Amino acid sequence: MNRPINLFEYEVTAKQHLEPMALEYYQSGALDEITLRENRLAINRYRLRPRMLVDVSQRDLATKLLGQTLNVPILIAPMAFQCLANSEGEIATAKAAAISNVVMVLSTLSTKSLEAVAAQRQNTPQWFQLYIHRDRSLTETLVRRAEAAGYEALCLTVDAPMLGKRESDRRNQFTLPKTMELANLSMSNLAIPQTSQESGLFAYFAQQIDPSVTWKDLEWLQSITSLPVLVKGILRSDDSLKAYEHGAKGIIVSNHGGRQLDGAIATFEALTEIVETVGDKIEILVDGGIRRGTDILKALALGAKAVLVGRPILWGLAVEGMKGVAHVLQLLIEELDLAMALCGCASIEDIEPSLVKINY
Ligand code: GLV
Repeated sequence: MNRPINLFEYEVTAKQHLEPMALEYYQSGALDEITLRENRLAINRYRLRPRMLVDVSQRDLATKLLGQTLNVPILIAPMAFQCLANSEGEIATAKAAAISNVVMVLSTLSTKSLEAVAAQRQNTPQWFQLYIHRDRSLTETLVRRAEAAGYEALCLTVDAPMLGKRESDRRNQFTLPKTMELANLSMSNLAIPQTSQESGLFAYFAQQIDPSVTWKDLEWLQSITSLPVLVKGILRSDDSLKAYEHGAKGIIVSNHGGRQLDGAIATFEALTEIVETVGDKIEILVDGGIRRGTDILKALALGAKAVLVGRPILWGLAVEGMKGVAHVLQLLIEELDLAMALCGCASIEDIEPSLVKINY
């Protein structure tokens, strides 16, 4: 079989490698999946206005984020339960991230421990995604462990006071196989329950994740750590301003890959107002439907500093483990490099707003 040559082909191929419950968990969005689809449509509504006769013989994809140099403006989005895609799970993803020099954001709900994942880092920074649990001492322990293991930033997910309604997970009574655990939480005896007529993850959120979290808790989090905190799941300019005023160092414009509030605005629609409001104050990243190098160029032209890529990483992981993830990243990097050349951009700083135009 030929190797996939783009991220869409990885998705098609991955379907042959995944159990139906895992495939549907990864693939699905909330309710009617309007937001899931809209993320892609919103990206496609932007068209490029390429600049000609620029010397693009040397191209540099490096960028600065939170004072650090990244090789490319791409991060791996936090995604739960990666052992459902491959037995090495998050370890394989971390190895691929390290060899590709791409920052991986590890999910609280990983199936390999944050310490085991950190051990794969080599010289590439890793970040940790945090869900604030009702048990604050457990949450604080996670932060301490992430610090001790060398994670360099925390991403606080704020769009999930409850889990979105994903109908296939309810139908499948989604849970983890007995061979897998919540590797960061099992010492606290936390597990995804087996629940009749419901997704076990939905039940986990209802029982364990704190729905009372507010901006004060963002301050609390920052009071217990010196790590920079980014707020993931912002879709409005007023919230972006609050995030800044409450000390966040960055915002991830995200609707959780269409998995939380269906009908929520697409991330590329939200991006512009957020960039206008806090673009000169804090780092802005975006995720949701990034599948092509041209998508990344558009995000950067609209003012994002970097993008996060989610599901395609899982497709690569399912198809070929670490090699599959590394190949997915390589394809995206090659496509971004080509898009830059064809738009007349020799460096990331050359990617500016006039390169995109919305097409209604
Ligand atoms: C977990 O965070 C999920 O979106 O499934």
